[in-house]
Parts: sequence; C-alpha cells; structure tokens
Amino acid sequence: MAAVTAAAVSLRSSTTTPSCSSKAAAASPSHSHCGFPRTAAAGRRHGLRIRAQAVSTDASAPPEPVKEKKVSKKQEEGVVTNKYRPKEPYVGKCLLNTKITADDAPGETWHMVFATDGEVPYKEGQSIGVVADGLDKNGKPHKLRLYSIASSALGDFGDSKTVSLCVKRLVYTNDQGEVVKGVCSNFLCDLKPGADVNITGPVGKEMLMPKDPNATIIMLATGTGIAPFRSFLWKMFFEKYEDYKFNGLGWLFLGVPTSSSLLYKEEFGKMKAKAPENFRVDYAISREETNAEGQKMYIQTKMAEYKDELWELLKKDNTYVYMCGLKGMEKGIDEIMIPLAAKEGIDWLDYRKQLKKSEQWNVEVY
Ligand SMILES: Cc1cc2nc3c(=O)[nH]c(=O)nc-3n(C[C@H](O)[C@H](O)[C@H](O)COP(=O)(O)OP(=O)(O)OC[C@H]3O[C@@H](n4cnc5c(N)ncnc54)[C@H](O)[C@@H]3O)c2cc1C
Ligand SMILES: NC(=O)c1ccc[n+]([C@@H]2O[C@H](COP(=O)([O-])OP(=O)(O)OC[C@H]3O[C@@H](n4cnc5c(N)ncnc54)[C@H](OP(=O)(O)O)[C@@H]3O)[C@@H](O)[C@H]2O)c1
Repeated sequence: MAAVTAAAVSLRSSTTTPSCSSKAAAASPSHSHCGFPRTAAAGRRHGLRIRAQAVSTDASAPPEPVKEKKVSKKQEEGVVTNKYRPKEPYVGKCLLNTKITADDAPGETWHMVFATDGEVPYKEGQSIGVVADGLDKNGKPHKLRLYSIASSALGDFGDSKTVSLCVKRLVYTNDQGEVVKGVCSNFLCDLKPGADVNITGPVGKEMLMPKDPNATIIMLATGTGIAPFRSFLWKMFFEKYEDYKFNGLGWLFLGVPTSSSLLYKEEFGKMKAKAPENFRVDYAISREETNAEGQKMYIQTKMAEYKDELWELLKKDNTYVYMCGLKGMEKGIDEIMIPLAAKEGIDWLDYRKQLKKSEQWNVEVY
C-alpha cells in the first residue's frame, strides 16, 4: 500500500530564475556531506562496501571485497512489458495538458496526464509508446514513438489510474528552408483534455529504480530527459510506502538551455525543503552560465564542479547512476571521469563497464 503525501502537481515551473544556483547549493549544509561519508576511507569506517580498487600486482595487497549478489532488475517481479502493441493499443484519455516552459523559452515542453483506468501498469523508469492519429505519407498508420513516463507508478493523482509524459514539441527548419513539425510530439503537445490517445507498452527495464532505500541515486538529465527522474523523485520524496522509505541520497543534475526552460523546478524545490539531507539538485543552464574557463554550462560542466565528490560516491557499491536525454552528454561525462579514475590507476571505461554489469550505470539517451 502506498499513499501520496504531497501530490500537488506543480506545472508552471519555469517563469522564475533558478533557485538552486551552484552558490546557493554550495551554501546548503546538505552539500557539505549529505549525511554520507565523503571519502572511501570514511566509507570503510562507516561499514560501507567500496567497489573501486586500482589493480595491484602486490601479493600483500588486501583482497578485493567480495561483492554481494544483487537480484537483477531485469528479473524484477511485477514489471509488465508490451501489454499493448500498435495494432491493439490502449486508448487513454487526455485529462490535462499544460505547457511547462515559459513563453520566452527556446521551444515548448508540455506535461500531460492520461487516464488509464489502471490498465497500463508501469514502474518508475519505464516508457510508453504513442501512436499519433492520422496516416503517414504512404497512407499507413504512424509508427509509434517512445516517451519516458514522467509520473511515479501511483500517477499524478495517487490512484494508479493515470500516466504522465513530459514532451518537447519538435519543430525544425529543413535543408530546403521549410519548417517541419515532428509528427507525434506535435500531436501530443496539441492534445486537448478529453481527447483519445493510443498507448502501447509499457516498455523498458534499463531505467528501473534500485530497490535499496538507502542507495545513492545520481540522476543526469538533459531537457525532457528529466521525465524518468520526476517519476523516481515522486516515489522517493512525495509518496509513502510500507516497503520503501527512501533514506539515501538523490542527486539530480538537470541541463536546460535557459532558466525559462527549467522543468518541474517548483516540485524539486518542495522536495529539497522536505528532505534537505537526502536530496540535492544542480541545474546547468547552458545559454546563461559558463564555468571559470568561459565554457558553456553543460550538465558535465556542472558535474565537474563536484567531480571528486562524485568519484567517491561512484566507488560505493550502492551508488546508482542514471542518465537520460541527449546522446552527446554521455561522452562529456566520460571526459570528466577518465582523469579522475586515472589518478587512482583505474581505467574509467573498464570501470564503467563493471558498473554497467552490476546495473549501477544506466543509460537511456537518444
Ligand atoms: C526511449 C525513448 C524515450 C523518449 N522519451 C521522450 C520524452 O520523454 N519526451 C520527449 O519529448 N521525447 C522523448 N523521446 C523522443 C520521442 O520518441 C520522439 O523521437 C520525439 O518526440 C520526436 O518525434 P516526432 O514524431 O515529433 O518527430 P518525427 O516526425 O519522428 O521527426 C523526427 C525526425 O525529424 C528529423 N529531425 C529532427 N530534428 C531535426 C533537425 N533539427 N534538423 C533536421 N532534421 C531533424 C530527424 O530525422 C528525426 O528522426 C524518447 C525517445 C526514446 C527512444
Ligand atoms: N529515454 C530517452 O531516451 C529520452 C527521454 C526523454 C528525452 N529524450 C531525448 O532527449 C533530448 C532532450 O532534448 P530537449 O529538446 O528536451 O532538451 P533541451 O531543452 O534542448 O535541453 C537540452 C540541454 O542539453 C544541452 N546540450 C546540448 N548538447 C549537449 C551535450 N553534448 N552534452 C550535454 N548537454 C548538451 C543543451 O544545450 P544547448 O542547446 O544550449 O547547446 C540544453 O541545455 C531529445 O532528443 C529527446 O528526444 C530521450
């Protein structure tokens, strides 16, 4: 059984300037330690298992810690996939659809809620498919497009009867100078309450949350890549469960072009107020901020400000990293980690492979 404790859907998040600037964040007591040991040595003192070790040829070196076997999330019970396919989709109803970026933002992003009557059972981190109305240029039904689910499994109304999405309207100018509108994103952003929507899925197991309520969950999002993390964070901070009480650290990095395109900022502010020791949020506003070298503030640039702390967290066996959004962010993040790991004689790319194998490095980029 679960209950929503603060299910106020806060949808106009972007009309003000960001509240959690890096300075404000650095001033926050939670930023100094967040209740977690800051170093591997401190971690050992606190009885945490540390996963990173430089490869040593010294026979007298202590043996590598034996890793506890975790149950793979891919085997997790109760995760439904592909209940609905394009030929027999679930027909949901749009309950609300709101633009959540300000009018002066570059591009529009909408938050929408669909009624499912509980017939599309999903877990945090899954996606659904949407088949837009109408036919393609060959007279065939449109192909489905995938969208990360932006609500927790309980849904925005806490009754497990809705599913929410966070969708960016795709509009671009092609090589011929014509303005082209993306089929499905425009269909979704234009949906009016009461309209039907063809839903497939749910799909995906890559982004399922760790079960450990004491885990450190590092969430890296660009733009609408925030969707699965809103879903995680509602479960972690707004809802009550008998078998899950989050008491670890959730650390969100969100990259957007302008402060007017920040997504769900008010909700994240409420979470921070509710659980200051357990939640950190850092925004990277690429077209308004730069680092000391004058480089554009991408998510990886913001992460670099905390690189030593992040590296220490990444050595813990119960730290889980999730990345969602633009493909380009992955490479930028590797670039920060490579020298950090190398300082300790660790090959980052090998290390990342190990993290991936133990489901501590989870990526859904596009
Ligand atoms: C697992 C997964 C989860 C996703 N989750 C989300 C989500 O939560 N929210 C979200 O908004 N999107 C999400 N997406 C993206 C989504 O599936 C669609 O791809 C997106 O909405 C565009 O679809 P469309 O039908 O509007 O565009 P389409 O009509 O499919 O047009 C897209 C095509 O237009 C072309 N194109 C696009 N931009 C340009 C450009 N600048 N110049 C030239 N050509 C261009 C490309 O060929 C591209 O393939 C996700 C994708 C995946 C794989
Ligand atoms: N599960 C998934 O796979 C999934 C889920 C949701 C969304 N998506 C995809 O994620 C993308 C998000 O786009 P959006 O339009 O919503 O975002 P957006 O609002 O345009 O924001 C993206 C941010 O990332 C920055 N950025 C650009 N290149 C980058 C790079 N190489 N490294 C780090 N940051 C970079 C952008 O900066 P500048 O623009 O200033 O350069 C901007 O600040 C879309 O392609 C969407 O389809 C995928």
